[in-house]
Amino acid sequence: MAARELKLTPIKNGTVIDHITNGLALEVLRIIGAHTLDKDSTVSVALHVRSNKLGWKDIVKVENMELSPRKVNAIALLAPTATISIIRDFKVREKRSVDLPERIVGVIRCPNPNCITNQPEPIESEFDVTQRRPVVLTCVYCDREVDEFLPHLA
Ligand SMILES: Nc1ncnc2c1ncn2[C@@H]1O[C@H](COP(=O)(O)OP(=O)(O)OP(=O)(O)O)[C@@H](O)[C@H]1O
Ligand SMILES: [Mg+2]
Ligand SMILES: [Zn+2]
Repeated sequence: MAARELKLTPIKNGTVIDHITNGLALEVLRIIGAHTLDKDSTVSVALHVRSNKLGWKDIVKVENMELSPRKVNAIALLAPTATISIIRDFKVREKRSVDLPERIVGVIRCPNPNCITNQPEPIESEFDVTQRRPVVLTCVYCDREVDEFLPHLA
């Protein structure tokens, strides 16, 4: 870890979400969900950090937590440049880019109010990734396309 990267206190075990699109760290925190965290977990957030690759970026570091695939998908839709590093005993054990599977289940609400996934006894939403860069999702049930994800996070 380069010295100028030391914006946040190192953590012993946990997850680092780095290279988050500038300004979206708080949305990433919302996706992670504070209530899912261990009571001893510290969450650190750095906003507007200089980045060679992105110009500016946000970083989120969470102790004692690993992300479910669903949460990784939600982060990937919002901040496709994000990287996720698993820290064990202060070392990076695993680092990967977020990437989207072919199908996204239960992450985005269908914007079509008449969609079967929005009925009184709703079934779980399902979208196919029908375009990448920029991402477009298509509802499996009603074919509605979604290309803006923040307003539709489930
Ligand atoms: N013990 C630790 N506690 C908290 N964050 C850490 C720890 N070790 C590494 N990191 C963070 O995890 C991420 C990946 O670490 P790594 O050393 O691979 O980063 P890097 O050399 O800056 O690479 P890149 O920015 O290309 O992902 C970085 O955001 C780094 O700051
Ligand atoms: Mg770095
Ligand atoms: Zn639909």
